[in-house]
Amino acid sequence: MKATTIAPSNIAFIKFFGKINEALRLPANNSISMCLSGALTTTTVEFSPLYKKDSIEILRDNFNEEEKRRIVEHLERIRKLAQITTFAKVVTKNSFPKSSGIASSASGFAALTLSAVKACRLNIPEKELTILTRLASGSSCRSIPDGFVEWKKSKTSENSYAYSLYSPTYWNICDVLVILEDKPKKVTTTDAHKLALTSPFYKERIMGMEEKIERLKQALKKKDFLSFGEIIETEALNMHAVMMTTNPPLFYWSEKTVKLILAIWEWRKKGLSVYFTIDAGPNVHLVCEEKNKKEVVSYLQSLNMGKIIVNKPSIGARLTNKHLF
Ligand code: DP6
Repeated sequence: MKATTIAPSNIAFIKFFGKINEALRLPANNSISMCLSGALTTTTVEFSPLYKKDSIEILRDNFNEEEKRRIVEHLERIRKLAQITTFAKVVTKNSFPKSSGIASSASGFAALTLSAVKACRLNIPEKELTILTRLASGSSCRSIPDGFVEWKKSKTSENSYAYSLYSPTYWNICDVLVILEDKPKKVTTTDAHKLALTSPFYKERIMGMEEKIERLKQALKKKDFLSFGEIIETEALNMHAVMMTTNPPLFYWSEKTVKLILAIWEWRKKGLSVYFTIDAGPNVHLVCEEKNKKEVVSYLQSLNMGKIIVNKPSIGARLTNKHLF
C-alpha cells in the first residue's frame, strides 16, 4: 500500500484571499492559476500495519508541529474514506524552499492527497480529488488539474472544486520566479485569510471580482498578453493593498520586493513586455512570453537579487514509480 506523486506548485493570477467557511476552506471568490514546471513536491506514502504511528519526514528541511498536525489530520480524513485504521509513513521533498511565498502547501497537499488515496487503493475522480485536497489547503486543489486552472467558489463543499481551463501547451508563457528571501513567512496564509475582513477595502475587492475574472478569461482566450499582464499585476497589487490594510497589517514585502517592482516598471518602459505577481511572501514572479524569457532572465541576473527558477505551464499532480523510500 505505497504510492508516490509529483505535484507542481501553482501561481495564482487571480488570488484566493479570504474564506467564507474556515473549516471547509471555502473561498470567497473564484481563483485562476497556472501549474509551475519548476516548483515540485514529491511525496511517498505507505500505509502498513508495521507502523505504530504516523511518521512524517521532509528531506533537507523541517516540518513544525502545526504542519505535522495538518498532515496527520489529512491522513485521518483519507483513512476514514478508505475505512482503514493503519498508520502511514510519509516522506516528502521539495525542489524549492518551503514557506517562502511559493505555495509549498499547494504542491505539498496535492502530492500527499494523490499518494495517500492511491496507497489506500481508493479510486477517486479528479474533481473529487480537488475537493478532498482543498479541505487540507485551499490552493492545493489548483495543483491537481493540468495547466491553467480555475477553482470555483461555492457555498457547499461538493461544488467548490478545481478544473483545467487549458492544457499546459495552450500558451507559451513563463513564470520566472525570483527567490528574494527563503525564510518562513511571519504569518501563515491560513492565519492571513482570517484577517481579510478587517480591511476596509476587502468588500470592494470582492465586489470587483466577477468582472475581473471575466476580463482575465477573455485575455486567456485571445492569448492577449498585454491585457493578461495588466490584469494579473493589478490583481496582485489589489490583494496586497487589502493585506496591508488589515488589522493587524499583513506586510509580506521586503525592500528587495519594492526594488524589483520598480525595476520591472522601468524595463517595461524600455519596451520589455514583463509583468509581475506576488503571493503571500516577498518573492516576485515575473510573467512573460517565452520569446522574452532570455531577456527577462538576463535583466534579473544583472540585479543579482536571488535564486531564479524558470517555470513553464505544467501538468498537474501525477503518479511516479520512483519512491522516496
Ligand atoms: C495568497 O491555500 O495557502 O497564495 O487554505 O489556509 O492553506 P489555506 O491557504 P492557502 O492560501 C493561498 C493564498 C495565496 C493566494 C493564492 O494562492 O490564490
